[in-house]
Amino acid sequence: MIRPRRNRRTAAIRGMVRETHMTTDNLIYPLFLVDGKGVKDEIKSLPGNFRWSLDKLLPEVEECMELGLRNFVVFPAVPEELKDKTATYSYADDNFYLEAARIFKEKFPESTLISDVAMDPYSSDGHDGLVENGRILNDETLPILAKMSVAQAQAGFDIIAPSDMMDGRVGAIREALDNEGFTETAIMSYTAKYASAFYGPFRDALDSAPKAGDKKTYQMDPANRMEGLREAMLDEEEGADYMMVKPALNYLDVIALLKENTTLPIAAYHVSGECAMLIAACQNGWLDFEQAMPETLLSIRRAGADVILTYFAKEYAKRVRGLKFGL
Ligand code: PBG
Repeated sequence: MIRPRRNRRTAAIRGMVRETHMTTDNLIYPLFLVDGKGVKDEIKSLPGNFRWSLDKLLPEVEECMELGLRNFVVFPAVPEELKDKTATYSYADDNFYLEAARIFKEKFPESTLISDVAMDPYSSDGHDGLVENGRILNDETLPILAKMSVAQAQAGFDIIAPSDMMDGRVGAIREALDNEGFTETAIMSYTAKYASAFYGPFRDALDSAPKAGDKKTYQMDPANRMEGLREAMLDEEEGADYMMVKPALNYLDVIALLKENTTLPIAAYHVSGECAMLIAACQNGWLDFEQAMPETLLSIRRAGADVILTYFAKEYAKRVRGLKFGL
């Protein structure tokens, strides 16, 4: 009789036939940065995650590096008074985010530092693009994104990650980077980014929710799958080095679709709301974090993600090292 259970008999056998593996190399840890000193401010809707000032963040990053977690994406929480319609602070000389990147890379040259490119953290409208009479202008946004990207490359970011979903932005950013000599700076494009309800805690962290309207004219309709493939073909043509699907868990089919249709590495963003759901259930005693968290990340990887951006990256790194982990 054919018995699949023979291959499940012992831990060693299960290990031998395991199809999906995940190490800290496959993870990117998102971190929120604020200006100032001595700040470690917990995000209420994302327990265990903080808005850090750089002096507090660096020891945290050092701990991660010691755990073998080397890849970070950093988001700035910008004070309201520095925001304007055209996001000028995003490339200002005295921008604390850019200054922090310089110090970060100096201290951890062997880390991968990833940026976020979009207008929303710097925009008084809270949108990813330029707003005129309630409309989000596409082509007028591109030079702003390009300028922001060059400033980030100058500051030392290894990978520029446009999350704005304007058409043509990967091409515009690639051209600007190449013209300025940043030929080695990579682009991780938020290729299939959906207009999702699961970004709530992130917007709380950065205070970056749109002041009016929603993001449905630029972020994708959650109903669409083939459109993700179209975005992927464009991003590849325009010179993306990585393609991202976001969110991850509700879009595992899209991750699988893109993985089958490109040779580029695929990233998936296990977004704030997806992490918050799991944290809430575990805090209520309804799920066991130690089992549910790795199973969740594994499912994203099994779908085809090469790398996962997740707020659980540090806890997973502890688990890989055989250390105690949890909420
Ligand atoms: C900004 C941006 C968002 C996220 C990453 N970059 C929010 C948004 O598009 O409104 C969300 C990440 C998360 O929820 O963890 N463009």
